Amino acid sequence: MSQLTEYQFPKGFWWGSAASGPQTEGRIENDGKGDSMWDYWYKEAPEKFFNQVGPEKTSQVYQKYQEDIQLMKATGHTTFRTSIQWSRLIPDGVGAVNPKAVAFYNDYIDDMIANGIEPFMNLYHFDMPMALQEKGGWLNRETVDAYVTFAKTCFELFGDRVKKWFTHNEPIVPVEAGYLYQFHYPLEINLKHAVQVGYHEMLASAKAIAAYHGMKLGGEIGIILNLTPSYPRDETNPADVKAAVIADAFFNRSFLDPSVKGEFPVELVELLKEIDHLPVYEEEDLVIIKENTVDLLGINYYQPRRVKAKETPIDHTNGPMPEDYFDTYEMPGRKMNPYRGWEIYEKGIYDILTNVRENYGNIRCYISENGMGVEGEERFINEKGEIEDDYRIDFVKDHLKYVHQAITEGANCQGYHMWTCMDNWSWNNAYKNRYGFISVNLAEDGKRTIKKSGHWFKQISSQNGFND
Ligand code: BG6
Repeated sequence: MSQLTEYQFPKGFWWGSAASGPQTEGRIENDGKGDSMWDYWYKEAPEKFFNQVGPEKTSQVYQKYQEDIQLMKATGHTTFRTSIQWSRLIPDGVGAVNPKAVAFYNDYIDDMIANGIEPFMNLYHFDMPMALQEKGGWLNRETVDAYVTFAKTCFELFGDRVKKWFTHNEPIVPVEAGYLYQFHYPLEINLKHAVQVGYHEMLASAKAIAAYHGMKLGGEIGIILNLTPSYPRDETNPADVKAAVIADAFFNRSFLDPSVKGEFPVELVELLKEIDHLPVYEEEDLVIIKENTVDLLGINYYQPRRVKAKETPIDHTNGPMPEDYFDTYEMPGRKMNPYRGWEIYEKGIYDILTNVRENYGNIRCYISENGMGVEGEERFINEKGEIEDDYRIDFVKDHLKYVHQAITEGANCQGYHMWTCMDNWSWNNAYKNRYGFISVNLAEDGKRTIKKSGHWFKQISSQNGFND
């Protein structure tokens, strides 16, 4: 059969986008949701959030999900990922299930399926129930068991219809944001705690995978990792290369290796041992992690990490930090997103897929997030009230070309989800950076309008490819 388009994707390729419960649903206090650590933190310190907009409203998907699913259809979605809010389903983190939450997620899932959109459900997207955070959150080993109970509850309630599950979204983020760089609650700087938190997230993931497989529901379970390929300043300089290897071990392999291979990278274990920062663990945990690896890997890619050998003095103020082993490097001439300040390096997505193909058994994977945040996007509204985001079309297209190339060379990549469907609330940044195929006008009760990129996406999804 002749090619339909220049960049034609394999039959059945998943087209869609990703979001999360806390960033889209809104809180709806009287429907029984408990506080997550975000609800709590916002009440404590609203000034930490852009324009003081907190998680209570977000994009009102709780009320508008039917309209939104029609918009997903109109923008060519065949699949969509969101998350079940732990503190909505089990308001205290452990104990009673909230019946209104069950009804909401049932309706949401059923409506997606009725409209030909396969739901991908994630279990944890940075949203620890506050009742558990008060007892240490991921730092406390008891949270692992609470999470596994939450996971099993989700599988029991929704697993007859949801066939793609994910244990975590970007588990490195609660580690780095909450325990190293202070942009998420509980705002600590403590590498020992960071390592323990990451370890418990991994153990929880393996235990949830074991539970899911044991239930034989006929679907797949994976994890979603944000991978930041680490490039040395100078590939011929061994000290720079070593710096990149260590950054990769800290920020990528720390989760990628145990998730896919069932073991932690030796380089990282040795380094942590040297500085007496290995986590507290039980021998049998390692067997659980070894035996319960993922079926499917979600890859979030936004930007690369560029590093060089350590040149600046080590800052001892807060004890050991990953940055004791490398300095970041701003490559001259790198291409930047002018509206968000992140580097754009499209080939990074190809390098990740090639790495997964060559070094991780070519596990079944998909691009679970990739996207372009834009501050002040309303300046691109045309006279019809639509945002003309040609920059986003170019961004997605340029990344997809590299995804296509990787697939042509044998990568087992099954789909592409953009971040995100409609503009959503994003943690401390709230509505500062807009990412959606669909705009949300907060001044007009969250009015939705499809952007130019949304119409374009519909076209590539229906052709299963595109021409340059
Ligand atoms: C992703 C997260 O890494 O980045 C999302 O999974 C987040 O939850 C997105 O919203 C965008 O972040 P920001 O800070 O640019 O709004």
